Amino acid sequence: MALLSWNDQYLIGQATIDEEHKMLFRLINDFHTHWTEQRDRKDIARVLSQLIHYGELHFQDEERIMAQEGYPELESHHQVHEKLIDEIFKLNEELADQSRLLERDMTKFLKQWLVDHIVHSDYEFRNFLIRKRREAALT
Ligand SMILES: [Fe+2]
Repeated sequence: MALLSWNDQYLIGQATIDEEHKMLFRLINDFHTHWTEQRDRKDIARVLSQLIHYGELHFQDEERIMAQEGYPELESHHQVHEKLIDEIFKLNEELADQSRLLERDMTKFLKQWLVDHIVHSDYEFRNFLIRKRREAALT
């Protein structure tokens, strides 16, 4: 069973960002499946590195789109992205360190990582886009 199912309530209303968010859901679910099925550590590491790589690309795309749209909260959003990347790199290091027992609650971590990102910070951008389009329609 998937950890997180995509739901259209997560849509931001910007096609590139929405497609990339769907892909992030897939990658998070893929990683979670590998993790819960206790696959080989190498396999888990491979899937996690795909997720990290895609996450970084997504954050870059998102920030570029936010800049194009004149989003005033871009700088603070960038800080959120940096924090998310730091967190997932930390997880990657913990996984690579074979001698250490990983005591994280992975399900909780992955849900927070993705949902905090989309629901809490990207929704502010969604609201900004809605306001911007509404104002444009009125002028
Ligand atoms: Fe995003």
